[in-house]
Amino acid sequence: MSIENLINKVGIRALHCLDPETSHNATIKMLSTGLAPSFGQIKDKALEYKWGDLTFKNPVGMAAGFDKNAQAITPLMKLGFGHVEVGTVTPLPQEGNPKPRNFRLSADRAVINRYGFNNDGHDVVYERIRKVGRTPGVLGINIGANKLSEDRVADYVLGVKRFAELADYLTANISSPNTPGLRDLQEKDALAYLLSAIMDARNEQEDRLGRKVPVMLKIAPDVTEEAIKEIAEVVMTEKVDGMIVSNTTIARPSALKDKVQAKEAGGLSGAPLFERSTIALAKTRRAVGPDLPLFGVGGVDTPEKAAAKIFAGANQIQLYSGMVYEGQGLVKKINHHLSRLVALRDVSNLQDLVGIDNDLWADKPLDL
Ligand SMILES: Cc1cc2nc3c(=O)[nH]c(=O)nc-3n(C[C@H](O)[C@H](O)[C@H](O)COP(=O)(O)O)c2cc1C
Repeated sequence: MSIENLINKVGIRALHCLDPETSHNATIKMLSTGLAPSFGQIKDKALEYKWGDLTFKNPVGMAAGFDKNAQAITPLMKLGFGHVEVGTVTPLPQEGNPKPRNFRLSADRAVINRYGFNNDGHDVVYERIRKVGRTPGVLGINIGANKLSEDRVADYVLGVKRFAELADYLTANISSPNTPGLRDLQEKDALAYLLSAIMDARNEQEDRLGRKVPVMLKIAPDVTEEAIKEIAEVVMTEKVDGMIVSNTTIARPSALKDKVQAKEAGGLSGAPLFERSTIALAKTRRAVGPDLPLFGVGGVDTPEKAAAKIFAGANQIQLYSGMVYEGQGLVKKINHHLSRLVALRDVSNLQDLVGIDNDLWADKPLDL
């Protein structure tokens, strides 16, 4: 075992002695104070992804929710993430749900969380990001609505107006299971209304900024195939720039080993989410066609699963729970694997492999 792997393993063991929220806060602290390793970005042109004016240096992103308050953007990129999505940020700061609200299901390599959008709010997060300045990777800012907001659509519009100037891309997160009623925004008419307001707000910023900041929509995996088709139709009609599939699931697969923790309310992520989120991703790819940028998220904890997401139809992948169990070395491992894969398959860029197994995944039932 290399020294790097040993430090990684010891670090995970130490962090897992703490309760999950304390451990997460300690990790953010470690990263933000420069105590984390700096593996640097992999240098392989074949992993680069160009999306409009943006260049993603590699396909692995830090999923939203890890750096909710934008405290560790550059350190995360130095770990090797090609992009980091901060947030979810809501207009007003909020405490989130009572603790405990984050649970490790170690036997299942899974996490259940019901944080409920605890975050510092637009003003504080805006200032923090402004001070970061240029970053070595692509910065996504994930926006949401306050739990007690009387006009949730207005909250998203505020998010677009506030963060368009700082974000490389924005994500409208309507798929957290921990804000009551939020997922209702995925319903066709509500979604059309929301996305039309968001895209108008985005377009209004174009003159001021001299660019159209791309907007992604992040959806839940707890949707039927029919709903995916409807969502895709609205996304295309409203000219949303891309989709992220998926958020956590409210389902509790019967195969979960940790029956006690499985009873906790909230969103399940990690290994047990992989299959469901990958099927949802593949069905989304089938519904939107080959050109819309899709980010695949859910249960990526090995290089092989990262590759499977890409083969199912993802242009980029994101992960969160995988890092809880595999530590900081996972990003580097995935990128090296993908780099070798491109060479082995004799293609010039990883993007040539996007969707090559789409049918295999998209034909599977999305059991709810
Ligand atoms: C503790 C925790 C907090 C999360 N918070 C957010 C959030 O604020 N906004 C969001 O869009 N997704 C959030 N997510 C979902 C992740 O971004 C991701 O979609 C999901 O965990 C599936 O990926 P994974 O299996 O790699 O963790 C959170 C996930 C976890 C585990």
